[in-house]
Amino acid sequence: MKLIIINGPNLNLLGSREPDIYGKGNFEEFFENLQAIYSDVELSYFQSNVEGEIINKLQESDNDFDGIILNAAAYTHTSVGIGDAVKAIVTPVVEVHISNIHAREDFRHKSFIAPNAKGIIVGFGLQGYSLAIQSFLK
Ligand code: DQA
Repeated sequence: MKLIIINGPNLNLLGSREPDIYGKGNFEEFFENLQAIYSDVELSYFQSNVEGEIINKLQESDNDFDGIILNAAAYTHTSVGIGDAVKAIVTPVVEVHISNIHAREDFRHKSFIAPNAKGIIVGFGLQGYSLAIQSFLK
């Protein structure tokens, strides 16, 4: 099983960014733990603050992976381009959000990814990425 986690803007700042919302954990360390826990899974990780780079990575990942775990962060709520990319590719995409976007500001309730996602995991902190991996293993 080959999976890739794609993280969007400002998620490189996890650990120091609004820790009351996103927690104190750094993503790179968390990713190493995920690799250790799911040692049978070939896990890759990509993060970008640039919308087009996320679109390129989604296109490049198509057919190369069994699944994509996407937290497009703020672009979730604004990017028709990322939404179209998720629609265009064949590889299933699970949408993850660390916080419960539905319990936050109205503008976070809209997702351009959700209509074409295989499933959505929100509000479970970093554990959401682990739940997304498990969803592909089932
Ligand atoms: C987020 C939620 C988004 O609304 C926000 O812009 C983020 C992170 C989350 O994981 O909770 O940057 O995707």
